[in-house]
Amino acid sequence: MSAPTTYVLSIDQGTTSTRAMVFGRDGAVIATDQIEHKQIFPRAGWVEHDALEIWGNTRRVIGGALGKANLNSGHIDAVGITNQRETTVVWEKATGQPIHNAIVWQDTRTQALVDELASDGGLDRFKEVCGLPLATYFAGPKIAWILDHVEGARERAEAGELLAGTMDTWVLWNLTGGGENDGVHVTDVTNASRTMLMDLRTLQWDEATCEAIGVPVQVLPEIRSSSEVYGECKPGVLNGTPIAGILGDQQSATFGQACLTPGTAKNTYGTGNFMLLNTGTEIVSSDNGLLTTVCYQLGEQDAVYALEGSIAVTGSLIQWLRDNLGFIKEAPEVEALACSVEDNGGVYFVPAFSGLFAPHWRPDARGAILGLTRYATNAHIARAALESTAYQTRDVLDAMQADAERAGGRLTELKVDGGMVANDTLMQFQADMLGVDVVRPQIAETTALGAAYAAGLAVGYWESTDEIVDNWSEGKRWSPSMDEDEVERLHRNWTKAISKTLDWVD
Ligand code: G3P
Repeated sequence: MSAPTTYVLSIDQGTTSTRAMVFGRDGAVIATDQIEHKQIFPRAGWVEHDALEIWGNTRRVIGGALGKANLNSGHIDAVGITNQRETTVVWEKATGQPIHNAIVWQDTRTQALVDELASDGGLDRFKEVCGLPLATYFAGPKIAWILDHVEGARERAEAGELLAGTMDTWVLWNLTGGGENDGVHVTDVTNASRTMLMDLRTLQWDEATCEAIGVPVQVLPEIRSSSEVYGECKPGVLNGTPIAGILGDQQSATFGQACLTPGTAKNTYGTGNFMLLNTGTEIVSSDNGLLTTVCYQLGEQDAVYALEGSIAVTGSLIQWLRDNLGFIKEAPEVEALACSVEDNGGVYFVPAFSGLFAPHWRPDARGAILGLTRYATNAHIARAALESTAYQTRDVLDAMQADAERAGGRLTELKVDGGMVANDTLMQFQADMLGVDVVRPQIAETTALGAAYAAGLAVGYWESTDEIVDNWSEGKRWSPSMDEDEVERLHRNWTKAISKTLDWVD
């Protein structure tokens, strides 16, 4: 009997759901399974996830995806993990019990700590080391918050009883045996670069920063590359299968989009939007409100870095219209509602639910709908919500173009992926607002695919990154067609709307 055809399985632990996807050598999806998890909002500005629920869902979707394609561990050469970044969990080493719900990247509860840290040296106090401004977004202050607010946690952390990590680390530790079987406590360079605690140059935890932020180094995982064997699954349906790739979800999408040369960029439309520009092995610091982050590191090769423009609220605004305002029953219906009117009717929606991220970094901003008259309907508000995704992306692209002059040249097109790129109206409006072509690949599942590639490369399933480039092909392209004066008028109004949302939180 000939050996079975084999595949790579990717786990995508995202903000709203967890998915398992099985990929073949050509990058095509063989099977997929997905389960949503609870979004917990204990107070205004706070967002939590139940880490045990997520781990349970992870096991279930692995079994689900394998079952759908009639596969078992013998068909899977390697497992990759990709994840919502910055979301942080602290758990007991002996039992695997989290000591607090995971604090999600959108959560703003660390504002007081961030303000206190910024009072000595400003928001860019750690930027030279970690590439990031002080903001509630990042994981390090979230770990410190948990250690300071759960009784006895700091002492237990210092005594070595607790482990901390982002969701990649949580999933990996559980997959490799957890508390009972000495789980592997590791993260990769891309996730570590979102904590504020890693030195971008050495790719190791920076002790001075850890101390200043209040995170004992012993709770942190070991930092490894994005593509190497970290351990094996045990026990469970994939028992013995190597886990060989980890990439934060946005870096994973960049890899899956084959943005492997300096100057190439992608924009993912998920809960939020995240645009990453590959800057090669050079660490480029932004003068325009972008983050410097690790893009990927393949085994022992040099790390590749990126500039990133992170937008907190895009797709989640459509969910909010559905869940909190009842405008639509299913998210995709927003396109028809928005298209039932000719234009936005003068309405602008600034979804600053978690403050404003790039390029503004204004935690004091809060959401607002502006330009309302009695003429406005829910359709205009829906249209304004969709348009806000495109305007926010325009602001990030403007910042990126300004920085890109120093880092490989201006962008002439933008690769896109994520749920909202199925929305033709939005993508055309996006191309109009950006003034560059917007291109969707044939295989749109780039986030899960990137981690599959990282894992497959580590075990020789794919020989080299050339295969990633060969597997990428264009699916659809939108070119700018709106009159330039109209583009500028809309964007001018948007900028005015943004200015009204600042200084809201006292
Ligand atoms: O930085 C947050 C980002 O990684 C979340 O991505 O796709 O889960 O919204 P997503």
